[in-house]
Amino acid sequence: MKNTVTLTDNRNGKSYEFPILDGTLGPSVIDISNLYKDTNMFTFDRGYTSTAMCRSEITFIDGAKGELKYRGYDIDWLAKNKIFLDVIHLLLHKKLPNQVELSEFRTRLKMRSFINEKMMSLFSAFPDRAHPMAVLQACVANLSAYYKRDMNFDDPVEYMELAERLVAKMPTLAAFYHRYTMGYPFIYPDLDRGFTENFLYMMRSFPHSHVNISPIEVKALDTVLMLHADHEQNASTTTVRTVGSTHSHPYSCVSAGIGALWGHAHGGANEGVIKQLEEIGSVDNVDKYIKKAKDKNDPFRLMGFGHRVYKNYDPRAKVLKSLRDELIDEIGIDSNLIKIANKIEKIVSEDDYFISRNLYPNVDFNSGLILKALKIPTAMFAVMFVIGRVPGWMAQWMELKEQDTIKIVRPRQLYVGPSSQNKDENLEKSNIEFSSSKDR
Ligand code: CMC
Repeated sequence: MKNTVTLTDNRNGKSYEFPILDGTLGPSVIDISNLYKDTNMFTFDRGYTSTAMCRSEITFIDGAKGELKYRGYDIDWLAKNKIFLDVIHLLLHKKLPNQVELSEFRTRLKMRSFINEKMMSLFSAFPDRAHPMAVLQACVANLSAYYKRDMNFDDPVEYMELAERLVAKMPTLAAFYHRYTMGYPFIYPDLDRGFTENFLYMMRSFPHSHVNISPIEVKALDTVLMLHADHEQNASTTTVRTVGSTHSHPYSCVSAGIGALWGHAHGGANEGVIKQLEEIGSVDNVDKYIKKAKDKNDPFRLMGFGHRVYKNYDPRAKVLKSLRDELIDEIGIDSNLIKIANKIEKIVSEDDYFISRNLYPNVDFNSGLILKALKIPTAMFAVMFVIGRVPGWMAQWMELKEQDTIKIVRPRQLYVGPSSQNKDENLEKSNIEFSSSKDR
């Protein structure tokens, strides 16, 4: 049996054959690279719901089974047995590190965690209370100006350094901007602390005073970051790959990725969850909001529910739900918000509107509650997603670089606009006045 599919054009009876490609896991794909050449037609796939845009070895998702793997390792196994730093190494260096590799990796990231002091002046160019995502996007684009001489993207050693630099500086940029907005003194990275603990230290500490960071808080944040580390070809990763396909440098790819992630349908949802739970305010109001979510004429959506790929359960949400329950007393998660969240989750799991549309809690449903308990300001929730996701973006960018040929991402369209507007007779019939050259 031939491994192909046949497409028949019923208008003229012509048939065309396309190869089927098999991956190691997941659905096979139909290779339609020659479709336009052979048939003079494009495919139409709004939002790429049925399109594989690349080959990748990094992350596998089975949306029906609710499975997520980074380089073959199940996310719940990683969450139980490894730390975020191991996962960053796994994504960038393609293997889990041994003790020596982990220690060397930790040291390299620490040495790269400082930022050029001149970058501080960038913060003052923003008006008060600028959203931290806007600032982070600018800071990352700005980093390219400081490393102009180290941008040889064809040298794998150099681009690995660049990837580690970006991963290492992200927590410092985020914490520094927080300090700046609060008017607090900047707290520099502490080289004696681990990656995640150091971030909490830079956020909370004051000079010459003791800062209280409990191991359980570090574990909670570390797990949140690990769960966000990669998620195959989601909107922001596709953005990073798209910008990368033009041979633009990784700082601009990541900066563009931050822009894509900011939207409330993607990384902005964790901020949206908390705002929504606070707006609901009491368990007594839950039914009213559920009604709004189900109303076709109301644009309101339950934040933290639904996913393009997971049609069973988001495995990241499962890990976070048990982490949330484990932490509930230890880090003081807001009990009123928990009650509201529990009631929503119960209704959603029993109501036919949500069941029939496969709407389950996603990663953002519980990450917001955990981040709030860790006293991370709500406006910084999406920033936490970015800190977690940069290793994934850089792994995807490096994978793009390793391909034999990089094809610029350039989808086509179904044009439905006017076929012609510039015929003299059209102009004569219309009220359009001719512009004079003065108006140019
Ligand atoms: N609340 C109420 N109805 C919903 C929701 C929701 N959260 N999500 C989807 N629906 C309904 C939607 O109205 C539609 O109904 P109908 O078939 O009657 O028109 C149906 O479910 C399918 O929705 P869709 O928008 O076509 O699905 P999608 O796969 O394009 O969108 C989504 C996925 C995540 C953007 C969407 O579920 C959503 O907006 N969720 C809320 C925002 C959110 O939590 N985003 C975080 C995503 S997870 C983090 C990440 O990985 O980025």
